[in-house]
Amino acid sequence: MIRPILIHPDPRLKKPCEAVTDVTPEVRTLALDMLETMYDAPGVGLAAPQVGVMSRVIVMDCIKDGPPEPMVLLNPRVVWSSEDVNIYEEGCLSIPDQYAEVKRPASVTVEWMDLEGETQERTFTGLWATCVQHEIDHLDGKLFIDYLGPLKRQMITRKMEKLKRERARMA
Ligand code: NI
Repeated sequence: MIRPILIHPDPRLKKPCEAVTDVTPEVRTLALDMLETMYDAPGVGLAAPQVGVMSRVIVMDCIKDGPPEPMVLLNPRVVWSSEDVNIYEEGCLSIPDQYAEVKRPASVTVEWMDLEGETQERTFTGLWATCVQHEIDHLDGKLFIDYLGPLKRQMITRKMEKLKRERARMA
């Protein structure tokens, strides 16, 4: 089921999320819904607070060409970051049509729990590295615009407030 994506500014996008303790049917349904919502948008990553669920769940698929590689990460955390950095033009499904360059570690090792309750670890590079860090930030109430200067951030936030007013009028 496709779930509505919250648009910034929203208090739920600024709050830290709770750890997943058990892989319940609700968690599985949430993960599948999030994948469906992400592919539909379309996007390469989505975090649970973006659909209003305050749980440490993210989904990703950064494959542009070729067979899809859907990933579900519960309680993901960065256990190692490279010193070398990458600059990517980032966007966010909660901040539609706004993009800005963000500097982050070029590769990161992330540990997480999968839907079987098993611990997994993988080192991500390239777009995957940027995406996983962006999504983990969401779980801590942090958005990519928080890396920008205050003027740029304010400008984007005003545009989003306007977009939300327009959408509310049309609803
Ligand atoms: Ni995002």
